[in-house]
Amino acid sequence: MVVAMSTAARATDPRLTLDPDLARRLGHRVVDALVERLVELPGLPVGERAGRDEMEARLREPLPEEGCDPERVLETVLHDVLVPGLRVDHPRFFAFVPSPGNPVAVLADALAAGFSVFAGAWLGSPGAAMVETVVLDWLRDVCGLPGGAQGLFVSGGSTANLTALAVALDERAGSERPRAAVYVSDETHSSVERALRVTGVRHVRVLPSDRHQQLVPGDVAAAVPADRAAGRLPACVVATAGTTGTGAVDPLEELREVCDEHGMWLHVDGAYGAAAMLSPHGRARLRGIELADSLTLDPHKWLFQPLEAGCLLVRDGAALERTFSTTAAYLRDAAGAASEVNFSDRGIQLTRQFRALKLWMSLKVYGAAAFRAAVEHGLALAEHAERRLASDPAWEVVTPARLGIVTFRARRAGASPAELDALNAGLPAAALADGFAYLSSHRVQGATALRLCTINPRTTREDVDSTIDRLAALAQGAAHA
Ligand SMILES: Cc1ncc(COP(=O)(O)O)c(C=O)c1O
Repeated sequence: MVVAMSTAARATDPRLTLDPDLARRLGHRVVDALVERLVELPGLPVGERAGRDEMEARLREPLPEEGCDPERVLETVLHDVLVPGLRVDHPRFFAFVPSPGNPVAVLADALAAGFSVFAGAWLGSPGAAMVETVVLDWLRDVCGLPGGAQGLFVSGGSTANLTALAVALDERAGSERPRAAVYVSDETHSSVERALRVTGVRHVRVLPSDRHQQLVPGDVAAAVPADRAAGRLPACVVATAGTTGTGAVDPLEELREVCDEHGMWLHVDGAYGAAAMLSPHGRARLRGIELADSLTLDPHKWLFQPLEAGCLLVRDGAALERTFSTTAAYLRDAAGAASEVNFSDRGIQLTRQFRALKLWMSLKVYGAAAFRAAVEHGLALAEHAERRLASDPAWEVVTPARLGIVTFRARRAGASPAELDALNAGLPAAALADGFAYLSSHRVQGATALRLCTINPRTTREDVDSTIDRLAALAQGAAHA
């Protein structure tokens, strides 16, 4: 329902200001709503569907010529805009890649917006540029990249992958880009396909992953001579450190060797998985990540930041500026000294949000030890889920717990493969309608598998157990439907 125009509509304010007392009152209401939501979250449904008709009815209205009471507008936001949809930070949201967030980072985002920080140039905010530099150096060290590696914050993994590919193609193909060949696997994230389209790559080799969902270095090595013979220029391998589907990590050390042998760039997409470098167990799984020429990692996934926060690190940091730096007469005054970083020279955006602040503030408030424990909790939860599923004949574990993801499927005696596929494929939607927990599905070894991604540090073992129990009941219900 659209909130009616307040009878106490204020006089038109062409300066777009807010009375300080009203601003404080509204601000307190906003903070109260944020805190209440966090307190209530575990008891709320994990998501609420709303179709186009319903949302049209709630929100369609003509452009309002006159202003409306801000408290009423806030009510509309809280009830009609923000309620329907997925609660990706809910402790029983196990679908896709959750975004658990943290409250300190939410406040940091508000500060960055409220102080109108321009994070494109040192001149705009030396504090923002320095904080971004410091956080990037922390992430570089966590991931084991050398001192010369530099990077930038972007909106998310898709933009980080696009930025990385633009650099990789410049560095390895230059003006020969039309001949460039890029090697990916059938488990590579779809954002890479989009990035390759945008960067104009015509020769994309999608290699089938093996039975562990990993890219096979020998297959890349075998494809290269054929491409060369056909006049193509093998330029880049995109490896994944934590596939979205099953948490698999491609053999990074071997892929590095293949790249070195053939002069190719190694981009590693660790959008969700690279955060596990914080933990010893994760470091063992991610061996070789430090050999990447470029590395995507997304703080808005397993580094517990609210949307949006992605990050790209590039081993030869100067390569970013070689691709993206530009000059313009109207920006001369923002040039700054050589030691001062203008992050707009490292990526696509000139005007940039201060995304690094939230990660910096939350790492300072909680400490890296808390982040490490939070990551380890996610790893342990997936292992717990795997044990639980393996001990129950109603379920089959399809892929083991890897970097916080386990895949599995419901079994049913006497069911054909097609019936089993239909049963499993229907469970995510049934779970969402039920509202207790949400998970997603993937195709693994030619069949539908259910998938839990357990990276929320506020998820408990009981949440995992009760989710599996609830799924069993939903599967049982579907079988008798
Ligand atoms: C491995 C991987 N790469 C890239 C992405 C895309 O990231 P974003 O959605 O932040 O653009 C994802 C998202 O889940 C991912 O898991």
